[in-house]
Amino acid sequence: MKKIKMQNRPSGPFPTILVGADVNGRPDYTTVGACGVVSMEPVLYISLKDTHHSTGGVKENGYFSVNIPSADLVQKTDFCGVVSGKTVDKSGLFTPFYDEQGKAPMISECPINILCKVIQSMPMSGFEMFFGEIVAVYVSEDCLKDGQIDPEKVNPVMMMYPYYFELGQKIGTIYQDGLNYKKSLNT
Ligand SMILES: Cc1cc2nc3c(=O)[nH]c(=O)nc-3n(C[C@H](O)[C@H](O)[C@H](O)COP(=O)(O)O)c2cc1C
Repeated sequence: MKKIKMQNRPSGPFPTILVGADVNGRPDYTTVGACGVVSMEPVLYISLKDTHHSTGGVKENGYFSVNIPSADLVQKTDFCGVVSGKTVDKSGLFTPFYDEQGKAPMISECPINILCKVIQSMPMSGFEMFFGEIVAVYVSEDCLKDGQIDPEKVNPVMMMYPYYFELGQKIGTIYQDGLNYKKSLNT
């Protein structure tokens, strides 16, 4: 297969999330692709530009929320990524709710909400990378099946420049397909 060398830029895919933070007592919501899992410990990271409105809120309170929007929220999600709370009040876009564990707004309309307490942060080329210990997780009841999160009901959004995509079809089973393949190699 012929390979073409491209610019040194990440193009995705990345899961699309909305970060929630209170800034001066008002909820602000920001679209983020730079979010991920650190290990099997309950810790997530997000990377926020220093100049964002939300960044000040995360620093001020020591908490942020990671909210997973469904595909039907794509327009509002992109809106949160093109306007800043510095100039537009985004607090009325969603219905916020809070957990007693920490001061960050979570978005009722998003099927999954994860409240994180900042345990470490690191500056990185104009961004602040926040590592957050997960202190509370909420799931909309209608996205559960037999007590487990049903990915198809959540229908999360992936971003891969320049588009958003929804989940699509199930194509395999974690920790099973690889074992089946391993078995097939031994026979
Ligand atoms: C698809 C998409 C992904 C984005 N990912 C990030 C990101 O990972 N980190 C970041 O700091 N900003 C990211 N942004 C930009 C912010 O969401 C945007 O500048 C936002 O208006 C900042 O809002 P605030 O000033 O209210 O915090 C992204 C924007 C879009 C549209």
